[in-house]
Amino acid sequence: MDKLRITGGRTLKGEVTISGAKNAALPEMCAALLTDEPVRLLNVPRLHDVATMRRLLNNMGVKTETHGERGGMSFQAADPIQPEAPYELVKTMRASVLALGPLLARFGHAKVSLPGGCAIGSRPVDQHIKGLQAMGAEIVVEHGYMVARLPQGRSRLHGARIATDMVTVTGTENFLMAAALAEGETLLENAAQEPEIPDLCEMLIAMGAKIEGHGTSRIHIQGVERLHGCTHQVVADRIEAGTFLCAVAATGGDVVLRHANAHHLDAVIDKLLEAGAEIEAGAEAAGAFIRIRSTGRLKAQSFRTTEYPGFPTDMQAQFMALNCIAEGTAKVTETIFENRFMHVNELVRLGARIQTDGKVAVVEGIDRLSGATVMATDLRASASLVIAGLVAEGQTVVDRIYHLDRGYDQMEEKLRGIGADIVRFK
Ligand code: EPZ
Repeated sequence: MDKLRITGGRTLKGEVTISGAKNAALPEMCAALLTDEPVRLLNVPRLHDVATMRRLLNNMGVKTETHGERGGMSFQAADPIQPEAPYELVKTMRASVLALGPLLARFGHAKVSLPGGCAIGSRPVDQHIKGLQAMGAEIVVEHGYMVARLPQGRSRLHGARIATDMVTVTGTENFLMAAALAEGETLLENAAQEPEIPDLCEMLIAMGAKIEGHGTSRIHIQGVERLHGCTHQVVADRIEAGTFLCAVAATGGDVVLRHANAHHLDAVIDKLLEAGAEIEAGAEAAGAFIRIRSTGRLKAQSFRTTEYPGFPTDMQAQFMALNCIAEGTAKVTETIFENRFMHVNELVRLGARIQTDGKVAVVEGIDRLSGATVMATDLRASASLVIAGLVAEGQTVVDRIYHLDRGYDQMEEKLRGIGADIVRFK
């Protein structure tokens, strides 16, 4: 199993190019199921989860092809398609549930494995089922699978008003893809507003869908009979960008992030500015950029994770690592997932002072961490351990980095490119 060895204490300087967003690429790959015409995605990140989603689609009969470094990936879901997502693949990546909506909408039936438990929380999919049932689907759970079909005599889903009990990102995405081919109008209330949602909508609109209100909590979709192919550029990964901002804020340095949209990270950047980092952002011919400069010890920042545009739960662990060596004490409240403090005990192994009580972690900033061997437990927890290793005295070894590879495109190469001492070994 791969590990990372990090020698801490170096400041970071230079430029990093931010990749396409995992949480946009995954639903957009599933959107290719909505048409039998070719679909091309550009700026697709090289991630394990993307490879898993590609295997899932190939397994259904979708033809896929990659087109070199910047050529992206193309998809064609021409008949026959086997509308099934097997447990073997779904258990490795719960985002496979994103196949349910498009398969049901296009083929009128689908069999998708229930995702099962997850390190960061129970993460049920009851709202996905409830929403698709409101659109006329009959869904039963049997032998660990969601078996969905249209009632006798119906060939399409129908429009509906869907108001979920809580904001759900992949739920909203499933409903958008299903409603795009449904009969009539669908209104999504309490819809997710994360930037990956409008990006998916832009792709669906390029395929011929009729959608309004994306990026707000109320989205209107007028279903159409058929969708066609398109070419779409996957939006930049705001969480990868936020992770690098926290790394530079912690180590000190001066780094420019290329292809990074600052306005997708307002809540995180506000906290970094309050902590004492200098941040400027803009757009050039080459695209949007964010520059961060950080000198000296930053001030600890308390924060509470919420849905977008609030502070993202996917940045909680990384910002907590920063708070470990900041001046003062911070209160971190995790409101989205019930078990997303798995990184705390590993940070404590590096000498951090953190007390947890349910949804709250109190982090008392200290002068320095000391290197040790730690274990990654989930994707964002592994990123926080890398940041802690970059500032810790001596060597840190991060074990089980397969978690990191699921969602970060060549992280250690990018870090080495700005001066970090980090190597992968077996
Ligand atoms: C998406 O997960 C992201 N994954 C997650 O990123 C991210 O943490 C999460 O949104 C929140 O921003 C992808 O986009 C692939 P939710 P998702 O449905 O859609 C509860 C990462 O690190 N809920 O918005 O699965 C749920 O348990 C990953 O990249 C139900 O109870 O999250 C949670 O408490 C981790 N029933 C809350 O809602 C449902 O049917 C929000 O979950 C659906 C959700």
